[in-house]
Amino acid sequence: MISKETIERVQAAADIVEVVSDYAQLKKKGKDFWACCPFHNEKSPSFSVSQAKGIYKCFGCGAAGDALTFVMNVDRISYPDAIRQLAKKYSIEIIEDVSATNKEERTQIESLYIILNYAKNFFVKHLFETEHGRAVGLSYFKERGFSDATIHKFDLGYAPDAWSELHKEALAEQYSEEILEKAGLITKKDDNKVFDRFRNRVTFPIHTVSGRVIAFGARILTNDKNQPKYLNSPETEVYHKSKILYGIYQAKKEIVNKDNCFLVEGYTDVLSLHQAGIENVVASSGTSLTQDQVRLIGRFTKNVTILYDGDTAGIKASLRGIDIILEEGLNVRICSFPDNDDPDSYVKKVGYEAFLKHIKEHTNDFINFKTELFLAEAGNDPIKKAGVIKEIVESICKIPDTITRTVYIKQCSDKLGISEDILVAEVNRKLLGDRKKKTENTVNELLIAENELLEQELNRPHDLPEVNLEDKFMVREKGLIYLLLHNHQLKTTDQELSLIQFFYNETLDLEFSDHYFGQILTQLKEVLGNGEDYSQFFENFDNEELKRIMIDLSMPSHKPSPNWGKHGILVPDEHEDPFALMHSLILQYKIILTEEMIQDKKILLAATDDYDLQNRYLRIIMQLIDLKKEIAKDLGSVVWRL
Ligand code: UTP
Ligand code: MN
Repeated sequence: MISKETIERVQAAADIVEVVSDYAQLKKKGKDFWACCPFHNEKSPSFSVSQAKGIYKCFGCGAAGDALTFVMNVDRISYPDAIRQLAKKYSIEIIEDVSATNKEERTQIESLYIILNYAKNFFVKHLFETEHGRAVGLSYFKERGFSDATIHKFDLGYAPDAWSELHKEALAEQYSEEILEKAGLITKKDDNKVFDRFRNRVTFPIHTVSGRVIAFGARILTNDKNQPKYLNSPETEVYHKSKILYGIYQAKKEIVNKDNCFLVEGYTDVLSLHQAGIENVVASSGTSLTQDQVRLIGRFTKNVTILYDGDTAGIKASLRGIDIILEEGLNVRICSFPDNDDPDSYVKKVGYEAFLKHIKEHTNDFINFKTELFLAEAGNDPIKKAGVIKEIVESICKIPDTITRTVYIKQCSDKLGISEDILVAEVNRKLLGDRKKKTENTVNELLIAENELLEQELNRPHDLPEVNLEDKFMVREKGLIYLLLHNHQLKTTDQELSLIQFFYNETLDLEFSDHYFGQILTQLKEVLGNGEDYSQFFENFDNEELKRIMIDLSMPSHKPSPNWGKHGILVPDEHEDPFALMHSLILQYKIILTEEMIQDKKILLAATDDYDLQNRYLRIIMQLIDLKKEIAKDLGSVVWRL
């Protein structure tokens, strides 16, 4: 456990502006500082930092706290680790309360960090302090021109040429085999034999933004074509390949300073550029960029320059990936290098000055670059040229900012030799299409959410079992008529309303779906509406079929309870109060009627391409859902009287 004194010293030293600056670009406005929030994705700053108060607050997502909570949340680490990290930043010595330190008591994640850090030290030790490590690993780095300073800065190491050296040593130090495996440092074969994952390779630790080791890349030293050149850690609980960029820890400060991030492909490109004095550089490690990685860069700058080695085929393959950067609102530029050179070899060849000069002269805006690349390929072929326009429009549409888009449209219309109006129209058409797709998805999500809410509200005891729609109506129509047939003279306790009048009042706007029940209802309403005497109504049908139904319904076998439950009808209890029962049936009837109407509108919604019409259907659906909720509430509050 960290001593109380250490904690107090760290708290006193931590300056909120300095701490946040490691993660976000703060700009002073008035007496506070502002930045785009590192906790959520945003395009304009709503994250404020008060140096005087020592706190931060985001008006967008509500994140708030002091320097310690900031570090805890942004790096997702525990309180003690946040203290440790800040202590390191401010060169404060950590006094540990040794008695309480217990490897087993720490959480699994922390154990992973600890074992990975242990492994890093193990590899570093083997690089510098073993004969074999120096002869093989260190001499390899030297051959490639890496200085001790670079090797130390990136914690490079060497994994010995043995089956399970790391495994053996770690166990001797009381680390558990389980954690070694979970950290991806060892592999178990079928026969339970254990091997170190990295053997006879130089190691490149991969650090989090805050400098914790979470994984390794390891390069082979021989020309063995049967083995991969680089071996990487597997995904683990702390290492998610798609969320991290190699070198971000060592580069973040300079990225903020230069307000630009160089993006390269490999470990060695990062190392060589650093060594040459160019430190705002990270590597995607040979795969195409993900949204999370772009957002990671976006925390420090809005400008990315991709440094590409040579061949056009490679570039074309990654163009789609670059659109992701545009989508996040970052500015992308691209710089290519002569054939057979990558940034690593080129900077070694020409040195710092000439390298920067090359970048200055050969960096092209990404959309320009893409336009030129495709145009060169299309030549004079008009069909191919149409394809180019489509491609460029695709990229321009990815840019969220309207003004930036307009600027690009101007530029590209010149290059493509087509009028600006046509390009604007193309872009708008595509944007509208995209938006429609988006709306469709939103509509569906909304409907699902609404329905889920509704399900909850309709939950027991209003859960209507699935019966097919026709039956759902029929069974209730039959029930209502049964109730009327048997109780039409029954009066409420205050003698004001008979059951049949109650029915009439509640169902003015209702029509039955069943042909015969519908006829009965219509005729009954006519009689009641004319104020005629209805006492004989149920006996007076001249239609044979209707008469048969009436007789059938008068049979005791149709007594509604308890069999009604089987048909999904809610029945109060065994002493059914006909009023409550009828009210319940009518509400149930209205609910399934509303459901059917919603279903109808959903079908219409899905069938139309007309944007306005879609919106109209959507509004109707929402109203119907509200209505359904209202009825469901009523149903829940039917008071069973007796
Ligand atoms: P390169 O083959 O260009 O490697 O792959 P490099 O970085 O230039 O390495 P040197 O100069 O030959 O030592 C670029 C990146 O792709 C990933 C690595 O991250 C590498 O840095 N890669 C490549 C792998 O993960 N596995 C491989 O087998 C090869
Ligand atoms: Mn290389």
